[in-house]
Amino acid sequence: MSYRVAVCVSGGGSNLQALLDRLQGEEPARVVLVLSNRADAGGLERARQAGVPAEVLADPADAAEWITRLGRRDVDLLVLAGYLKLVPPGVVQKYAGRMVNIHPALLPDFGGPGMYGQRVHEAVIASGAAESGPTVHLVDEVYDRGAILAQRRVPVLPGDTPATLAERVLTEEHRLLPDVVLAAARAGHPVPMANAD
Ligand code: GRF
Repeated sequence: MSYRVAVCVSGGGSNLQALLDRLQGEEPARVVLVLSNRADAGGLERARQAGVPAEVLADPADAAEWITRLGRRDVDLLVLAGYLKLVPPGVVQKYAGRMVNIHPALLPDFGGPGMYGQRVHEAVIASGAAESGPTVHLVDEVYDRGAILAQRRVPVLPGDTPATLAERVLTEEHRLLPDVVLAAARAGHPVPMANAD
């Protein structure tokens, strides 16, 4: 039986695309629902192109609406992939241990409220850190603080701008997130993974 994955997006959805591409064919997981808080999120169109149901939340703050939509698709794992709004606490509780987020820096550094998009990469460069890279973690009540499942490291290079660093990190996100989802599918729940470089 296939492990049923819902992906939440607010923007372009390149991580969603990486998942859709990786979970074709005989893989033990498949994307059964894409949810967004925005009707114009590019990720919704990617879902439609792949024949995956794409739904817009009428009220992203309404836990009951989330739970109804996720329950209807019998979702095993909820993946936040560039979902920029707060997920209602009732959903976080209901999906505790079954909900992951991808963050574009090496948590626990460079996370927390307001740390998303270019700001993350600006902060990494400003800190003088030699490395950055994506983190996939479990979602709990505190922003970017749930248990870390996997990370991948990339160098921060002299002359990097937030855009060049973001691109290097994003390339690794597209490998890391499908790896974590496939490991979760095999185990039946998200599992910590040895870090790959
Ligand atoms: C990624 O950098 C992810 O780490 C962050 O939001 C971005 C989403 O990009 N949470 P995309 O929409 O998957 O292209």
